[in-house]
Amino acid sequence: MRTVEQFIAGLCAIGEQDFTLRRVAAYVAENRVNPDSLTPYLFYTPTHYTRNLIYKCDLFELLAICWEVGQISRIHNHQGQNCWMAVPIGRLAVQNYELVRADEKTRFCELRKADRLVMDSEHPSHVEPEMPIHAVLNLPQYGQRATSLHLYSRPYDRCRVDSRVSEDTGILPPCRRSPSS
Ligand SMILES: [Fe+2]
Repeated sequence: MRTVEQFIAGLCAIGEQDFTLRRVAAYVAENRVNPDSLTPYLFYTPTHYTRNLIYKCDLFELLAICWEVGQISRIHNHQGQNCWMAVPIGRLAVQNYELVRADEKTRFCELRKADRLVMDSEHPSHVEPEMPIHAVLNLPQYGQRATSLHLYSRPYDRCRVDSRVSEDTGILPPCRRSPSS
């Protein structure tokens, strides 16, 4: 197990040409981060999950996201950037969505639930480019706080966020843009 500083040093050593989805996914799977080394970045609040920047360079950024029990992200994508996730503390679900149709004129889109996977310290994950729309959930039944590490390449400061999803129809009202997880 590595400290987060060692984890970052290893990422920096990969180099731009080799910073591919598969290569970095293998690195994340092989290099678990010691939760104790994340203590300076852990901030939980009862009202919303928190995003805590650990490191940023031109090639990638690394955030610790802290989730109280029951906190969930909006449905979002990552603007075409790669995203790898590890969960050193607790457990999180990733719910993926398929895009059924999008109307840029009205800014409505229709989504359909796809697969759901569970991440924990033994099971990191990453966003597949062909299935980029997802939400992250610390489900109430998990009964514990969670902290996830999110690695983005390249860094991005905006993404597409879908709000007020209807579980009945999957029809979503207009999208807005803001950073998400
Ligand atoms: Fe995400």
